[in-house]
Amino acid sequence: MLKANISEFFFDRGFLKNLKANTNQSKINIQLIHTLSAAVEYNDEYNRGHSLRVATYARKAARQMGFSRNLVETVYIAGLLHDIGKIAVPASILQKPGKLTNEEFIQIKRHVEYGVNILRNTERFKDVIPMIADHHERWDGSGYPVGKKGTEIHHGGRIIAVADAYDAMTSRRVYRSSVDKEDAYRELRNCSESQFDPEIIKCFC
Ligand SMILES: [Fe+2]
Repeated sequence: MLKANISEFFFDRGFLKNLKANTNQSKINIQLIHTLSAAVEYNDEYNRGHSLRVATYARKAARQMGFSRNLVETVYIAGLLHDIGKIAVPASILQKPGKLTNEEFIQIKRHVEYGVNILRNTERFKDVIPMIADHHERWDGSGYPVGKKGTEIHHGGRIIAVADAYDAMTSRRVYRSSVDKEDAYRELRNCSESQFDPEIIKCFC
């Protein structure tokens, strides 16, 4: 009797219909985010797939660290969009094979600010933005754009920083070839407590 009443309750209010519509909408949303992320990398042969890999590594680490389901999803989206601001940086600088000038490096660093500006008017990204804003901060305070230290850096941003560095090392870049996984883990451990949160490094490696 109770069971029948519960199903009537949901059906009467179109609950299941809305649930299905919301699930479909959320699938479309995540597909659009994937599309946006792929569009940023389209012209950059060496970086293609980087954001998806970073998102996947970061999601796995967030799960392992016991984050809630919503937070894991937010970390994943932040991983997909962490470098979206690079769309506003000239390709000639992003893909330059040689050493960057100081001015060029300043331009590249601004991708963090550009990314936050691109996303800030969308309610859906309000929890994603602090992770993107902090993904180049370093545990010892020597990162950018603010120079935040330790736990001042958003937890999601700290995870993306590790996933980003791991993928940068294990993928081929225009200026160097890739390193193998074990060497990459060793390098991450070497930078634990200087560049990265030691707890995240333990979990990631
Ligand atoms: Fe970045």
